[in-house]
Amino acid sequence: MIITGAAPVSPTVLGFLRAALGCQVYEAYGQTECTAGCTYTTPGDWTSGHVGAPLPCNLIKLVDVPEKNYYASKGEGEVCVKGPNVFKGYLKDPERTAETLDADDWLHTGDIGKWLPNGTLKIIDRKKHIFKLAQGEYISPEKIESIYIRSEPVSQLYIHGDSLQSCLVGIVVPDPEVMPSWAHKKGFPGNFDDLCNNTNVKKAILDDMVRLGKSSGLHSFEQVKDIYIHNEMFSIQNGLLTPTLKAKRPELKEYFKEKIEELYTNISM
Ligand SMILES: *[C@@H]1O[C@H](CO)[C@@H](O)[C@H](O)[C@H]1NC(C)=O
Ligand SMILES: *[C@@H]1O[C@H](CO)[C@@H](O)[C@H](O)[C@H]1NC(C)=O
Repeated sequence: MIITGAAPVSPTVLGFLRAALGCQVYEAYGQTECTAGCTYTTPGDWTSGHVGAPLPCNLIKLVDVPEKNYYASKGEGEVCVKGPNVFKGYLKDPERTAETLDADDWLHTGDIGKWLPNGTLKIIDRKKHIFKLAQGEYISPEKIESIYIRSEPVSQLYIHGDSLQSCLVGIVVPDPEVMPSWAHKKGFPGNFDDLCNNTNVKKAILDDMVRLGKSSGLHSFEQVKDIYIHNEMFSIQNGLLTPTLKAKRPELKEYFKEKIEELYTNISM
């Protein structure tokens, strides 16, 4: 059997793995703070879409998020977990611990869930990291990143939106193993660093991302208008990933501040 977790997997990939490998492929949901898992797809459930049943060891409840119009009375809200698998707190960090664990020991995950009629939980949104663009549309950057990351030359990316701007921009790190041959096939010569500096390559990568976004049903305001190609991976060492390999969004924003400003300036010209 195979268990996948850490981030949602697309229905196409999950369906392919199940068909090609012919074994049970379970999708788990959770976070480090609850010892990895708190929901799990049940044996024989072939669906996908980040749906799972609560693990017997923990309790799960949903809590109102009024600013985003999610109410527990309607079966939607922030996922909170309680049980022996929930951690006791961050080491020597009472402040962050208090933000995450409430007085009754419920872990506030920051994810938005929805109860389905059969008692399974579907993860539908993220409480943090959601922002509005200037025209008032809500953007969930992680949802957009999970679509663009499927672009063949793309290895890592960070989607940025500014509530004073009406569009999104992105920082893209191409895959050093895959991108050069991808670009050569399209007729662009040079090594990885040359290709990262080539505006026509950038344009081709951007086009591929937008094509994927369109076929995955992104609204036009959810598509990036421009990207910057960065040739060094985000890593724990350079402070852009957490120890569990998640993007550190505030740090990425700060690190690429000038590039982001340049992108917005070029778009408005
Ligand atoms: C519960 O319902 C959802 C939505 O219809 C479905 O995707 C899932 O397979 C169901 N799970 C089980 C265990 O029946
Ligand atoms: C890429 O372009 C930047 C800025 O124009 C320059 O500093 C850098 O040396 C270039 N890198 C390569 C490999 O050409």
